[in-house]
Amino acid sequence: MKALRVIMISIVIMGLFFACKRTETEKVEATAEKEMKAEETAPAQPEAQAPSYAMAGDVERGKAIFKDVNFGNGTAGKSCNSCHPDGKGLEKAGSKSEFNIMGQKQNSLEEAVNFCIEMALKGQAIDPNGQDMKDIVAYIRSIGE
Ligand code: HEC
Repeated sequence: MKALRVIMISIVIMGLFFACKRTETEKVEATAEKEMKAEETAPAQPEAQAPSYAMAGDVERGKAIFKDVNFGNGTAGKSCNSCHPDGKGLEKAGSKSEFNIMGQKQNSLEEAVNFCIEMALKGQAIDPNGQDMKDIVAYIRSIGE
């Protein structure tokens, strides 16, 4: 009788032991799953921010546009850089909100840029809210920094 009792108790203990082990592995699996989910959401974040980042204006790209003789479909064979070498003379432009270019008043940096595209490059004004404008404005603002 005593031996049977010992066997019964050890079975119960063994059962408890395995039950504990199971919940432990389940816990480990659960955290692993959580980590995997965190990894899944982590790269999604910069992607979600990508549009606003792209819209912020790329200084390097703006600089390239600034030196492009075909910018704004210019027909004068000139780039912005021809008259403003390395942004010379535009150091204050980034912080101004009123411009006087060749006797004409411009009320924003975007207008000033488009005025020079039309008058100096003999091209066509670009979208004031487009990426090219954002990039060239970012470059002009970087000149004065
Ligand atoms: C043919 C020469 C010429 C070209 C090419 C030219 N500009 Fe200008 N730009 C001027 C002149 C002249 C002014 C007015 C005088 C000044 O402020 O330097 C001016 C003024 C500006 C101003 C206002 C500066 C200020 O602080 O008042 C900005 C901004 C500007 N240009 C941007 C550009 C951009 C961008 C391009 C290329 C799309 C460009 N310019 C191409 C001649 C030129």
